[in-house]
Amino acid sequence: MSTPLTYASAWHAPVLVEEVCSLLTGCETILDGTLGGGGHTAALLEAGHRVIGLDRDPAALEVATARLQAAGIAGRFEAVLGNHDAIEEIPALEGRRLDGILLDLGVSSRQLDDDARGFSFRPGVLLDMRMNPTQPLDAAAWLMESDAATLTRIFREAGDEPRAARLAAEIIRRRERHPFAVSDDLVGAIRAVLGARSGPGEFARLFQAVRIAVNDELGGLARGLETLRDRLAPGGVLAVIAYHSGEDRIVKQSFRAWSTACTCPPRQPMCTCPGVAAGTLLTRRGVVALETEIAGNPRARSARLRAWRRAEGD
Ligand SMILES: C[S@@+](CC[C@H](N)C(=O)[O-])C[C@H]1O[C@@H](n2cnc3c(N)ncnc32)[C@H](O)[C@@H]1O
Repeated sequence: MSTPLTYASAWHAPVLVEEVCSLLTGCETILDGTLGGGGHTAALLEAGHRVIGLDRDPAALEVATARLQAAGIAGRFEAVLGNHDAIEEIPALEGRRLDGILLDLGVSSRQLDDDARGFSFRPGVLLDMRMNPTQPLDAAAWLMESDAATLTRIFREAGDEPRAARLAAEIIRRRERHPFAVSDDLVGAIRAVLGARSGPGEFARLFQAVRIAVNDELGGLARGLETLRDRLAPGGVLAVIAYHSGEDRIVKQSFRAWSTACTCPPRQPMCTCPGVAAGTLLTRRGVVALETEIAGNPRARSARLRAWRRAEGD
């Protein structure tokens, strides 16, 4: 197999490509629930699988489809627009057999780099951050409409921010005087609370927290993972790459629970459940990238890949 960066494009450089392909070996039809630039899909197509590439960003579908066609490997590929958190609402997936499902969570590099998409803290960028541009709520609206409790929770849980409540109060104080519209409005509030020396690291972390809220990334994953599991054919594999500790926790806890035979509450004296695990954990601690991959693709540093196989007889 080629080295991982062979599958990189101007849109995105995929991580852990060989590891993903190895875990999905033997799966005939795979749903790539985060098509992005089509890097993982390209590798899976080359390995002989059929791939349904799903993304909620129509621009990603267009770019990936053109790229796979140009490479002459689109014969076993189908592009579908939709959200993997609610695949039951996607007519094109109804009744389809899925032997493998891949989620490579978060956003593509191009989405982040394109100022018009509004993810960046660079000066003057409109606060947008929607992966799906037809979604009504953008980042500016989220910052203007969320109450103190919601702002605090998101900055604490998704942004790991100890001064989350102060930041929430600062945003509310500022938005009463001047509506939030551009990156500078949020940067100004962060600086006011974290101090003038706060810089790109803090902005990136707290802008990411807003992005996670605007796209409901943690809530959506928590709601959608079980549906994805139930759509797997017997013996099928669900593989998820997470970059954020909150996402990884959801995946880890779900995969552990689904691999446990007894699901009775821990204090219950006698087992009363069917006592059969729904499947098997394939990656005990999660797979991380090697230093050689991280050297070529720094984004790989925070990636953790976990996989789970549905029981054969289930
Ligand atoms: C990290 S990128 C995937 C990159 C891809 N693996 C590649 O090789 O280029 C994540 C992609 O998933 C999409 N995405 C994120 N959450 C989604 C969701 N809930 N449903 C559908 N697509 C989603 C984003 O729009 C983005 O294009």
